[in-house]
Amino acid sequence: MAGGHSAYTPKTGFERWIDKRMPLPRLMYDSFVAYPVPRNLNYAYTFGGILSIMLVVQILTGVVLAMHYAANTEIAFLSVEKIMRDVNSGWLLRYLHANGASFFFIAVYVHIFRGLYYGSYKAPRELLWILGCIIYLLMMATAFMGYVLPWGQMSFWGATVITGFFTAIPLVGEWIQQLLLGGFAVDNPTLNRFYSLHYLLPFMIAGVVMLHVWALHVTGQTNPTGIEVKEKTDTVSFTPYATIKDSFAMIVFLAIFAYFVFYIPNFLGHPDNYIVADPLKTPAHIVPEWYFLPFYAILRAITFNIGPIDSKLGGVLAMFGAIAVLFVVPWLDTSKVRSAVYRPWYKLFFWLFVIDSIFLGWLGSRPAEGSYVIMSQIATLYYFAFFIIIMPVLGLIETPRRLPNSITEAVLANTRGSATATPEGAAAAPENRA
Ligand code: HEM
Repeated sequence: MAGGHSAYTPKTGFERWIDKRMPLPRLMYDSFVAYPVPRNLNYAYTFGGILSIMLVVQILTGVVLAMHYAANTEIAFLSVEKIMRDVNSGWLLRYLHANGASFFFIAVYVHIFRGLYYGSYKAPRELLWILGCIIYLLMMATAFMGYVLPWGQMSFWGATVITGFFTAIPLVGEWIQQLLLGGFAVDNPTLNRFYSLHYLLPFMIAGVVMLHVWALHVTGQTNPTGIEVKEKTDTVSFTPYATIKDSFAMIVFLAIFAYFVFYIPNFLGHPDNYIVADPLKTPAHIVPEWYFLPFYAILRAITFNIGPIDSKLGGVLAMFGAIAVLFVVPWLDTSKVRSAVYRPWYKLFFWLFVIDSIFLGWLGSRPAEGSYVIMSQIATLYYFAFFIIIMPVLGLIETPRRLPNSITEAVLANTRGSATATPEGAAAAPENRA
């Protein structure tokens, strides 16, 4: 917990016995009951909890699916059909798992955009942010490999295209590709290693999530004002306040998830994946799952050579660069003020960035030809400009709005309908300089 002071008092003899030997109940109490959270957290702050639930859903459904799935190219597709038709509630397990991946990504994107909006990555939360970026990378690797397992047309051709990009890397590219494939083409060894890693990575994600939450509990949460909590009046205890709010958000999120699972389970999937993989028949358009589409658009936007870098390598570098740039965001943002609420220009560029990312996603689903390529290039340019130019420059030249003196003041100002901030405000306080 943040301050190191424990609020836990063991009540029974058994609790005292445990507490002396392994104070796990103390840790749980301090982290999830007495833990102080800012009193002004909004629903954007409930997505960390939602992500934790989705990770549990994915692991539970995945482990049971694995009891029936066969990782062999001869029968993988059929084993999935058997799960859908013959295994008790197999259809439910599979639809929960497939749609669960999509909802996991919806939640992670809201979580990341929330972080970018409220400047959650700023000091002292850089490590918390970087751990989040590692989780995101692991999620992408897990989802990519999971999509290959049903051994449909998109599984096969998606894996062929993506692993093919590694050959663009000079010297070691072909070696990396062969290591991934376990041979020279997507085949049985590929399916086996993808299955093995697809089972392993979620547990690694769970491990990094623990570090992520640990780091969070050291620094404490930010809040929509971006100013650090000062007085006791600025915080409420995690239970019941955050617990109830998080639970309500989870129920709404899970209800929407259930709608997809029970009414439109194939809405987010691709129909070609209901055709068994055929190495001799290339689908008309090879598209990845929706959550990879923005990066796919960036990959295909580089259609020209940049000096000694040919277009293929350029595309691969741009795609990996689009993810890598997230890791250095804490050092790209030079603003002294944390939250976009008090940064009118940043707010504008942020929303443009959200629209740009969605637009890139749409472009990723279009064929890479004609005006789609030009639009992808413009959208890619803005994507990188947001991080590399706008974030550092705007932080230096923007005049932020006045910050309230405390969270309590900001909350009460909302209820009274008038702001009572002083001209110097909290912006002057060193602890609020990010
Ligand atoms: C399995 C995936 C993840 C889980 C389970 C998870 C869990 C959580 C939880 C429980 C919180 C506290 C509640 C909240 O603020 O929503 C949190 C906060 C945070 N997360 Fe994550 N997270 C995940 C992925 C990520 C990713 C991908 C990033 C960034 C790239 C990230 C960055 C952050 C940051 C910066 C905070 C602090 C927010 C603040 O106090 O302003 N997380 N996370």
